This record gives sequence, C-alpha cells and structure tokens, in this order.
Amino acid sequence: MDRKMTEQKTLCVLGIETSGDETAASIVLGETDGRAKILSNVVRSQIDEHKAFGGVVPEIAARAHIELLDKLIAQAMNEAGGGEAGLRFRELDGVAVTAGPGLIGGLMVGLMTAKAVCYASDFPLLGINHLEGHALTPGLTDNVLPPYLLLLVSGGHTQVQIVKQVGQYQRLGTTVDDALGEAFDKVAKLMGLDYPGGPQVAKWAQKGNDRRFDFPRPMQGRAEPNFSFSGLKTAVRQQAIKLAPLSDTDIADLCASFERAASEAVVDRVGRAMERYIEVMGADAPLRLVVAGGVAANLRLRGALAALADDRNFTLDVPPVELCTDNAAMIAWAGLEHLLRGASDPLDLPAKARWPLDETAAKIKGVKLC
Ligand code: KG4
Ligand code: ZN
Repeated sequence: MDRKMTEQKTLCVLGIETSGDETAASIVLGETDGRAKILSNVVRSQIDEHKAFGGVVPEIAARAHIELLDKLIAQAMNEAGGGEAGLRFRELDGVAVTAGPGLIGGLMVGLMTAKAVCYASDFPLLGINHLEGHALTPGLTDNVLPPYLLLLVSGGHTQVQIVKQVGQYQRLGTTVDDALGEAFDKVAKLMGLDYPGGPQVAKWAQKGNDRRFDFPRPMQGRAEPNFSFSGLKTAVRQQAIKLAPLSDTDIADLCASFERAASEAVVDRVGRAMERYIEVMGADAPLRLVVAGGVAANLRLRGALAALADDRNFTLDVPPVELCTDNAAMIAWAGLEHLLRGASDPLDLPAKARWPLDETAAKIKGVKLC
C-alpha cells in the first residue's frame, strides 16, 4: 500500500517506549503527503538510578517506568498541543507501544498504560516491535522508504537486517554474544570508567594511541555477517590485568585500541552484509545503509562506516543521535505505518521479552532476545 495518508485526514499517534532504561512518550503526526511531523518527543533516561550498579537493574527500571510514564505522557500531550492548550486524547487516532523485545517488567508497564488509554477512548492499540521502531526511523527523519540495509548497534542489540518493506524484514546477521554497546560498557567498567561506558571509552580513546595494542577482530572474513565481541572484551581485560595499575596513558591507549578493533570488526561484517543484501535484493536495489542505535553516536565507527559506504557506492543514512537512541517517536511512527495499513492489536496483547523482527531467522546459540 502507498504510504500516503488519506486525502482528507492526517493521522496522529501517541507512542510509548519502556523496553529498557529510557521512559519515553511522543506524539507523531502523519501528514497527508506521507511525511512525519514530530509534535513532541519526551525521553527520560534512568541512568542515575542504575549508575551505582554499573548496568540496568530490571526491577529498578520497571519501578521507574511506573513512576514516570503518566507524567511523560501528559508532558508529550501538552507539548504537542502547542500554545496554552495541550492535545486532547480524542484528537489522537491510535496508541503505539513497544510490546517487545526487552525487559518484561518495563514492557508490561508501557503496555498496560497504552491499553488503559485505548480502552478509555476506544482507540486502536498497536503493539510495536522495538527493533522495527529503529528499522523504520529513516522514514520518520528523512522520508526514506525501504528497501535498505539496516545496521542496528545498541546496548542490547547488534544486527544487520534487510528492511524490505514495512512489516517485512530479513535478518542477515546478529551478535552471537555481547551487543556492541554492551562491549563498550563492559570495557569501560573494567577500567573503572562511568556507566554508560560507550561515551567514556570514546572520550578517552581520542587521547590514546590506537596502535599500541593489536586486539582481535572477531568473526573477520566469515561468510555469514554475524558479530561477536566477547573475545575482544576479554582480550582488553587480559591486557588491562597485565598492565595494572593503569596509568591515564594506559587507559587512553586501551580505549583507542579497543575502539579501532571494534570498528574494524563491524566494517568487515557490514561489508559482508552489503554483498548479501545485493545477492538477496538484486543489483537494481537502492544501495543504502542505515545505522541506528546508541553506538551510532560513536564518531570513529561513523567515520569507518562512511568510508565503507563510499567504497561500495552505498548511501549512508544516520538519523540524528536523539532518534538513534531509544525514543517513543520511532514507536509512534512505526504504529502510524501499521495503522495506515489497517492494522491494530487486541487489548489482551501480551508483552514479549523475546521477539525477533525476522521470525524466520535461524536461532543462533547464545542469542537471547532476538
Ligand atoms: O540505543 P541505546 O540508547 O539504548 C539501548 O541499548 O537500547 O544505546 C545505548 C548504548 C550503550 O551501550 C552506550 O554505551 C552506547 O550505546 N553508546 C556509545 C556511544 N554513545 C552511546 N558507544 C560508543 N560510543 C559512543 N559515543
Ligand atoms: Zn533500542
């Protein structure tokens, strides 16, 4: 179906995201020409609640979602109205909520809230796969339509998918152990850097010598574009133990050498995924690579992917950082795309901790969520 909105009407959807450690609510309007307008986009990170534990604690996350979500929805409705009067629920056309994959407690909080709004106002409910939210973000930000190749690199996921069209995805590869963001976080932790570790490692890496240590590039050259980062993380740990106590120069050099190895590993795997994309989609398919997820903020990785894309004649699309990381605008937008196609979900829709975007993708040993 054409993704133009109906001639007469724009569509307005409330999006809710509670699958991880961000509580988020957003209102997105689908214009009659098919473009998106973000009317509000409220995201509250729970980093401070989890900092002392060096990672996300599921029970703390669920409790924080309960405390924050209704306030954030009210704020999103207010900001979307513009001026003094906020948007009213009856001006919405539907509610889209992340139904999985993710931490089950948080997902249930979001889903119950969305169901309550839908029940009270008789709106369609749209249960959205979190990964689909990331996958369709280029439509939200740049009106870019599938097909394209998606690299998703976050704290919970590292995957390459072919986004064939809305609702049709083919997973080409995934991590068999840690996600890339998780590897950054663990490397930061072992050096005593703050959580979340990715931005810290990136900061220290800028001052370091990226050639001092020759860390492994896991999976390099393998035919299937899967990823692995746990061996790389262990290599960094062993080197750090050897050097202890670490000087500032050691920390900077470890960070820089890790970041280089990780980026080169990703480039090798994505290069392979590009070849698979062309095999699957044919030589006439648009050569477009989209990168989403929090690690897309990493400048070295972006630079390395830009060089790869250039080399292979792919266009590179990286949404703005605030829409690469977890947010509810991408959930509202995915909901809008489905609403346009006549979809809606029943009010007894369950939350799913595990929910692969490509349901046909082969299970890989050790892969927990997707
Ligand atoms: O997508 P995201 O906001 O949340 C989920 O994981 O769902 O991604 C967060 C991840 C964290 O692991 C964080 O350390 C990493 O993205 N990250 C970075 C950078 N900024 C965030 N990793 C490397 N370099 C960065 N500049
Ligand atoms: Zn995410």
